[in-house]
Amino acid sequence: MRVLERHPIPTRTHPSSFGRTSLSHWALDPSITYLNHGTVGAPPRRVLEAQQSIRDEIERQPSRYLLRELSAVSTGMPRSELPRLRAAALRVASFLGARGDDLVFVDNATTGLNAVLRSFPLREGDEVLVTDHGYGGVVNAAVFHAGERGASVRAVELPEASRGRGAFADAVVSAIGPRTRLAVVDHVTSESALILPIQEIAARCRERGVAVAVDGAHAPGAIPLDVPSIGADWYVGNLHKWAYAPRSSAFLWAAPGRQEGLHPPVISWGIGRGYTTEFDWVGTRDPSAYLAAPAAIDFMKELGIDALRGYNHDLAWEGGRLLGSAWGTWPGLEEAMVGTMATVPLPERLGSSKEDAARLRDALLEGDRIEVQLHAWRGRLSVRISTQIYNELPDVERLAKAINAK
Ligand SMILES: Cc1ncc(COP(=O)(O)O)c(C=O)c1O
Repeated sequence: MRVLERHPIPTRTHPSSFGRTSLSHWALDPSITYLNHGTVGAPPRRVLEAQQSIRDEIERQPSRYLLRELSAVSTGMPRSELPRLRAAALRVASFLGARGDDLVFVDNATTGLNAVLRSFPLREGDEVLVTDHGYGGVVNAAVFHAGERGASVRAVELPEASRGRGAFADAVVSAIGPRTRLAVVDHVTSESALILPIQEIAARCRERGVAVAVDGAHAPGAIPLDVPSIGADWYVGNLHKWAYAPRSSAFLWAAPGRQEGLHPPVISWGIGRGYTTEFDWVGTRDPSAYLAAPAAIDFMKELGIDALRGYNHDLAWEGGRLLGSAWGTWPGLEEAMVGTMATVPLPERLGSSKEDAARLRDALLEGDRIEVQLHAWRGRLSVRISTQIYNELPDVERLAKAINAK
């Protein structure tokens, strides 16, 4: 068994308010070492309070709020104020470098990508490219929607991360064939937690006439993001993971030339009334998670967005290397491939199957009170740590020790 050692990287300075003391901003159980922020998110208390006050306001006069004020699909006299969803979209868009008119709210990344996949005019024989690092639920959606039109889906095998970022783009582009119409590519991959060179991938796919939908489920709030400059046709991002918004809150951005014909998975009153109006009303629902997204952005700004992203990144990077050195399994990543999560292979003796991963994940929670993401990948188990400002390096050290004792 290797000794846990800290890597001799210079310790970057971070606000002293980050770390364990900032756990008081969250409702998380303090007896659990929570290294799983990325999976389903964890909204800070402040944001949950903002959401509750939105709900309280809705409940004072639900018909006015939901039917007259929320969207452009309204009953009653035209209003001079922006519909509430449009005002919130404007705030979220400006956080992402985008225009409000190009952005709509959706419940989650899965919904946003289903909207793109069902709307894209695939024909029989066409091909959709995904990668073998793609998120399973999204790949299922691609297979389903392609299959309905007689099209197919091809999963490109990405090279080992140690070959560098450029190799990822080359792999995707060289897989383009004569019938490839659409590529669905992650910005930050799910299990492997790698930042892909998405701008380069988008540019090279579009040069070859292939439309690009980016699955940015893990990007907003985690890494600097200017959505239009990526050069994709569509970009979908979760706000409820790293951007502190309550569940369920995500966005779909569509380039101006890609909005016509783009429909939500649920068709309702907005059909035929333009992109944003159509997505803004998909039946009666609770819009408070969308409307609280600006409060989440405000809270990140109050904490210091660059500071919190920097802290989360440094902890993922340093924590990942600590685990890799404890087990002799560091996959040789460049620092630019790591955002706020790091995936490290586990010692081989711990198993190789999905069942082994599920058993170990539960044993860590029940026996060691550590919540962390574990998965089986190419015949090997890996752990993915997510690091948020309430974590500290000793949380990762606890994980290393718990694994070493298994
Ligand atoms: C890359 C990626 N895409 C999509 C999703 C699905 O997100 P959601 O469940 O919010 O739709 C995830 C979830 O972790 C993900 O990692």
